[in-house]
Formats: sequence, structure tokens, C-alpha cells
Amino acid sequence: MNLNRAAEKTNIMAIDQKTRQWLNQRFRQRVLFQEPMSRHTYFRVGGPADAFVTPEAGDELAALVGWLKENGVPYLVIGGGTNLLVKDGGIQGVVIAIGKGFDTISHEEKSGDAVLLTCGGGTKLQALCRYAVDRGLAGMNFAVGIPGTVGGGIVMNAGTRYGCIGDVINTATILDPGANRVKLPRKRLAFSYRSLDWGALINSERDAGPIILEAEFGLNRSDPAVLREASDRIAKERRRRQPQHVPSAGCFFKNPASGKTAGELIDRAGLKGRRIGDAEISVAHANFIVNKGAATARDILELRDLIQNTVWTLFNIQLETEVKIVGASA
Ligand code: EPU
Repeated sequence: MNLNRAAEKTNIMAIDQKTRQWLNQRFRQRVLFQEPMSRHTYFRVGGPADAFVTPEAGDELAALVGWLKENGVPYLVIGGGTNLLVKDGGIQGVVIAIGKGFDTISHEEKSGDAVLLTCGGGTKLQALCRYAVDRGLAGMNFAVGIPGTVGGGIVMNAGTRYGCIGDVINTATILDPGANRVKLPRKRLAFSYRSLDWGALINSERDAGPIILEAEFGLNRSDPAVLREASDRIAKERRRRQPQHVPSAGCFFKNPASGKTAGELIDRAGLKGRRIGDAEISVAHANFIVNKGAATARDILELRDLIQNTVWTLFNIQLETEVKIVGASA
């Protein structure tokens, strides 16, 4: 049995007493220990994080990352927990949640119709969409209805058939793994379908991903009434096509590069409504796995395997997960 598996079985924490004390002193009520991740993910599943910290300012965040790096403590950065499946054994190390304190929005008129919108990485994507529509700023409507934060949205190049983050972003200011603040122009951000490749910026073997502190978006002046009408139409269509008011992580798989969408393939395979424990392939949209009450990560992962195997057998297509899967098995 390797060390990781031994730690999984006996639930050894990856943070020592010294780190625990440091976190307590620095963050007081904003650090929680053995915090169930089911409270912080849209799926409503996931075992405990050794520590769950909510920094509220850039310098606090930089000090935290610096300490964790220096002391070899693993960490995971999350935004809204919308696209995340945490396994039942939880997360060894520190979860850093970027939200409050990183959620300011402002805009600045540029030449002609151009407007530069600036926001913190913890801003809710829906708050950003509302802000833009209310002020007659065109360009964000593609994101109407996407849950989660701007930071999470950037890291996974969130989008819909109307566009994606990579289409409208001008710059991203990040905290790199060395805890330095770096402003990256669009040309240094390698977006592709639902992903952002950090390339040489991180050593993926060693480093957690950079943290999005702030982003700038290039929008245009437009008629607020027209924007609102389009936004309402997109929201309505989304409500009609996708499961509502039931925990899920949005689309579970990426659409394959060519041919049918993941939803169509799973539907054609006759899998809608299939259930393992309390995890179910949504009858509203086959690319959603929903938690009908007390699903475990294990139930969801078994459904994932069933879907991937069935779609592979029937259509010879390998579906790739869009949802990020983290943590240890129970
Ligand atoms: N379809 C089926 N059965 C289903 C679901 C869909 O046959 O159960 C068919 C639809 O009839 C349609 C096609 O599949 O012909 C595409 O469906 P839809 O319009 O719902 O789009 P999608 O490709 O499944 C994508 C994004 C969604 C986004 C919608 C709307 C991905 C993986 N998904 O879904 O994003 O909301 O377009 O723009 O790119 C997400 O990323 O979490 C997500 C839900």
C-alpha cells in the first residue's frame, strides 16, 4: 500500500499542528477544520477537507499560499464549487475558497463604443451578467445562467453555444505558484474548448494552479432593453432544456470534438433516468448527473463509468469529463 492509500484509509491529515495554529491565528472564524465539502459543492457530495479557508484580501491570500508552499502543505483553490466532484474520502490539505473580498465590479469607457469591465476572480458570473445588462454593456450574455465564479469560469473557459470566457477576456491577473501577482494579456492565455492551459506558468506535477485575482473584459455599449430581452430568452431556454432545482455539476462530459453532443449520445444509448444509489442521469438532459438526495461521489463515479463504457461500446466515442474530480476515495 503506498503512502497516499495508507493516509486515505486512516484519514491522516496533511496539515500539522504548526499549520493548524497559524491558520487559526490568521483566519479565526474563516478557517474550518474537517469541513465537509458537500457543503461547498453544487453536487452536494464530498468528504471533509482537512482545512477550509476563506481569505478576503489579496495580501492575506498571498501570505497563505506562501506559508503552504514553504511548509509543503498541499492546497486546492475553488471558486463556487459548481464544476467540482469531491470524492467521499475528502481532501488532504487546505481548500482555499475565493469569493467574498474578491468580488468587486467596475467599468471604464474607452474609445468609441468600447467599455472595459474589471472584476475580481470571486465575482459570481451571474452578478457580472446582471451588471453588464443593467448598464447596457454587450458581450456577457453568453454566460447567462452559468453558475460559479469568474475565476472558476476562466480556468475552465466556461461557455455555452453563444460563446465562452476566452472570447471576451482581455487580461487576467493571477497569483502564480510563487505567490507573485502577474497580469497576463489575452495572448498569453491558451484557451481551448472548456479549458485553459497554463503551459510553462506551472509545473503540473508540483504546483497547484494559479489563482485568478482579477480579470478585464472587453465589452461594447449597447441598448439595455435589447440586451435584457436576449438575456431573458437565453435564461428561459436554459430552464427548459436543463434540470432545475436539483444538485448537479452542470454538464458532466465535454462534447466530443466531432459529431453528436455528449447529451445526444447518452440519450441515444437509452441511459436517461438510470440510477446508482441516489445519483441519476437526468431525464431532462442526459449530460447532467443529478443528486436525488443522498448520492455519494462513488455513486456518481459508477454512473460515469457506466456512461463512458456504454457510449464507447455503442458509438466508439470516448467521453471526457468536464467536471473536475478531486480528493481521495473513502
Ligand atoms: N440532446 C439530446 N438529449 C439530451 C440533451 C440534449 O438529444 O438529453 C440534444 C439536443 O436536442 C440538442 C443537442 O443535444 O440537439 C445539444 O443540446 P444542448 O443545446 O442542451 O447543448 P449541449 O451541447 O448539451 C452545451 C453546453 C452547456 C450549455 C448549453 C447551452 C457543453 C458540454 N455543454 O450543452 O453547458 O449550457 O450548450 O448553450 O459544452 C456546462 O458546461 O456545464 C453546460 C451545461
